Formats: sequence, C-alpha cells, structure tokens
Amino acid sequence: MQEKIKVLGIPGSLRKKSYNKSLLRAATELKPEHMEIEIFDLHDIPLYNEDVEKEGLPEPVRKFKGKIAESDSLLFSSPEYNYSISGVLKNAIDWASRTPATSPLQKKPYAIMGVSSGMTGTVKAQLHLKEVGVFNNMLVMNEPEVYITLAKQKFDENGELTDESTRELLKKFLSEFYNWTIRFTNAGKF
Ligand code: FNR
Repeated sequence: MQEKIKVLGIPGSLRKKSYNKSLLRAATELKPEHMEIEIFDLHDIPLYNEDVEKEGLPEPVRKFKGKIAESDSLLFSSPEYNYSISGVLKNAIDWASRTPATSPLQKKPYAIMGVSSGMTGTVKAQLHLKEVGVFNNMLVMNEPEVYITLAKQKFDENGELTDESTRELLKKFLSEFYNWTIRFTNAGKF
C-alpha cells in the first residue's frame, strides 16, 4: 500500500493572476493519487523583524511554521525577480528559519518549480533558493527540473496550464517528488 504524503505548496508571488500560483494549482490537479497539496498564500506574513520575533511570533508566521512542520515536504513555485527569488518568499523563509535549532525547515525535503514571462524560466532564482536551502539544512530534489518560459503561451487567460508537454513534465516531476519525499518519511526507512 502506498503511503499518503502531505505537501505544502508555497507560491512566491502575491499577484492574483500569478503564473506561479497557477502552476501550483495545476500541480494539485496533476499530482499522484497519494500526494495531498495544500497551497499556503504568503499574503499575511509581515516583514521580518527580530524585535517583533522576540516579543512573540505574529499569528500568520506561527501558522506558516506550523504548516511546514506538519508537512512531509515543501513545493516552491517562485517567480524570478532580478535574478533571485521574490522578496516575499525570502522574507517568509527568513521567519521560518528561526531559529536553526528549532526551525521546521531543518531536514525538510523540498522541490522547486517556476514560471517566468521571459526566456529563462527562473533558472537563476531556483539556484538561489537552493543556496538558501543549504543554510537551512534542507533536502532539495535536483531532478527533474521545471523551468517554464514564456508563460503567456503555456497558460490561458483563466490561469489554466494548457501546454500539453509542460503538463506531462509536471506530472513526471510530481511523481518523482513523491518518491523523493517518501525516502525521508517513516515508510521510506523500512
Ligand atoms: C520580473 N521578471 C523577471 N523575469 C525573469 O525571467 N528574470 C528576472 O530577473 C525578472 N525580474 C523581475 C523583477 C520584477 C520586480 C518583476 C515584477 C518581474 C518578470 C517575471 O518573470 C514575471 O513578472 C512573472 O510573471 C512573475 O511571476 P507571477 O507573478 O506571474 O507568478
């Protein structure tokens, strides 16, 4: 019997019609049967401030860290902003990373995908996110890679992923991500 896994999908864009959010929605449709994906919008996460953190975690941050802790793995879909991940995503990770001794990011399996409107498909942003993962002792899946270029040609006006070869790639990616995640759950240890 296949084990059920819980994945937290984290979009790096707040935009209502964000292609990266749309890609996560497509993932909820194309995922393997035993994978559950919950999408967590970063809209309510305040800017990181160590003074605020010392006074007590803001409720949205507490909720975010709790969702990470109870997930088996994380699935990021971030735009590339100026050759890096979005500030919104970096800020949320900064909160979640505190403190290294107790952070729910530690040893958390994760995968990255991304959509850009141009030709590079978030390659550089994804490399940066891998660096951030190293500091947090996270466990990235390196392959397959999902770099989606020229977003307008792959999604329709309702945000549906319509490009057939991208849908196939996403299916394969999610199936591999299931296998990757399971390696680090209890079922994978037997
Ligand atoms: C961009 N965009 C962009 N694209 C890219 O391929 N490399 C980059 O470095 C940047 N930099 C960048 C900076 C800023 C501030 C913005 C607003 C945009 C374009 C980006 O790929 C495009 O806006 C995406 O559609 C954003 O993703 P969402 O919001 O659709 O998920």
